[in-house]
Amino acid sequence: MDTVIAKIDPSKPDPEMIGRAGEIIRSGGLVAFPTETVYGLGGDALSENSSRAIYAAKGRPSDNPLIVHIADLESLGRIVVSVPDAAYALAEKFWPGPLTMIMNKSDEVPYATTGGLDTVAVRFPSDPVAQAFIRAAGGYVAAPSANLSGKPSPTSGKYVVEDMDGRIDMILYGDDSVIGLESTIVDLTGDSPVILRPGYITLEMLKTVLPDVSVDTALLADDDRTPPKAPGMKYRHYAPKGDLVIVEGGRDAVISYISEKLSADRSAGKRCGVIASTQTAPSYHADVVLDMGDASDHDEIARRLFGLLRQMDENNVDSIYSEAVSGEGVAAAIMNRLLKAAGHNRIVLGIDDK
Ligand code: TXA
Ligand code: MG
Repeated sequence: MDTVIAKIDPSKPDPEMIGRAGEIIRSGGLVAFPTETVYGLGGDALSENSSRAIYAAKGRPSDNPLIVHIADLESLGRIVVSVPDAAYALAEKFWPGPLTMIMNKSDEVPYATTGGLDTVAVRFPSDPVAQAFIRAAGGYVAAPSANLSGKPSPTSGKYVVEDMDGRIDMILYGDDSVIGLESTIVDLTGDSPVILRPGYITLEMLKTVLPDVSVDTALLADDDRTPPKAPGMKYRHYAPKGDLVIVEGGRDAVISYISEKLSADRSAGKRCGVIASTQTAPSYHADVVLDMGDASDHDEIARRLFGLLRQMDENNVDSIYSEAVSGEGVAAAIMNRLLKAAGHNRIVLGIDDK
C-alpha cells in the first residue's frame, strides 16, 4: 500500500489535507495523526472492519480495546449508555486534553472496537490538528498509539513513518507531541473511579474533582504478575532491543553502581547505553549517553522518554541503564513506562549507599 505522507502546519492545518484524511476514514481507511500525547493510528470507531484493520496494521492482539476520540462533548451521548456525573465533572476540568474515560458502551460501538468489552474508552484531545481531523472523519475516530505493537508510542512524525509507512493510507505529519506520554485512563464504570493508566493528568489532579479516585492496585504491584484492568497494560511494551535496567537511589550511589556495571559490560565486549539527567549525564562513560532532561523537569523527561528508547535501538546497544525519576505527579507516569520498558528490571539502592 502507498502511504501518503502529508506534512501539516499545526498553526494553520490545510483544510484540503484534513478533508482528504477525513474522507479516507469515512471510506474505511486508516490515517495516523498527531495528538498532544502521542501520535494515533485512526480508523472509523463505529465500523467493525475499520477496527479490525487497525489491529492488523499495528500487529496488535484484538482483545486489546481501542480509545474512541471525539471532538466535542455532545458526541459522547451516542456512544455510551449514559454519561455519569463524574464524566461531566472531569470533562469540565480536563477536556479537551490528555484524559481518557471508560464508560458503558452503547450499541453503536462495535465489539471489534472495544476488544469484546461492554465498556468504551473515550478521549477528547486538545491538539487542533486532531480535532479538525476527527470532525472531518465524522466525529468518532478509534485510535491506538501509532506504533507497531511492542514499540514505544511515537512522539514524532518520523517514528510514525518508520513504523507505519506502507501499512496505512495516510500520515498527517505534524509537530512532535508536547506531552509525550499516553493519556491518563480513568474507569468510571465501578463503584468508585479508578486510574487504570497513569499519565500527565495525575492522581492529585483527579482528586480535586473526584476525591474518591484511586489507582488500580495492579499498577502499584512491582511485578508483571497481577493482571491490570486495562487489557493493554498487560502486554510487553516499549521494550528496547537491549536489556534495560532502571537504577533508583541516591545520586552518588546510582552513578557509582551504573559506572561499575558499565565497565564490567564493556570488558565483556558489550555496547552500552545510559539514560541520565542533564545533571548526571557527564558522569558516565558509555557508548551512548542520552540526556533525559533536567532532573527536576518531569514534563521535559516525559516529552523525551519514548524518543530516547527508540534512539537506543538505533544505536544497537546490548545493555542500557536508566536513572529512575522520583516524586509525585507525572513522575509516577514516567516510572510506569520505564518499568514496563524494562520488564520491571529495577535496582533499588540506599539513599546514602556510597
Ligand atoms: O494518549 C493516548 O491515549 C493515545 C492517543 C493516540 O490518544 N492512545 C493510546 O491508545 O495510547 P492505546 O491503544 O495505545 O492504549 C489504550 C489503552 C490500552 O491499555 C487499552 O487496554 C486501554 O486503553 N483500554 C481501552 N479501552 C478500554 C476499556 N474499555 N476498558 C479498559 N481499558 C481500556
Ligand atoms: Mg499503545
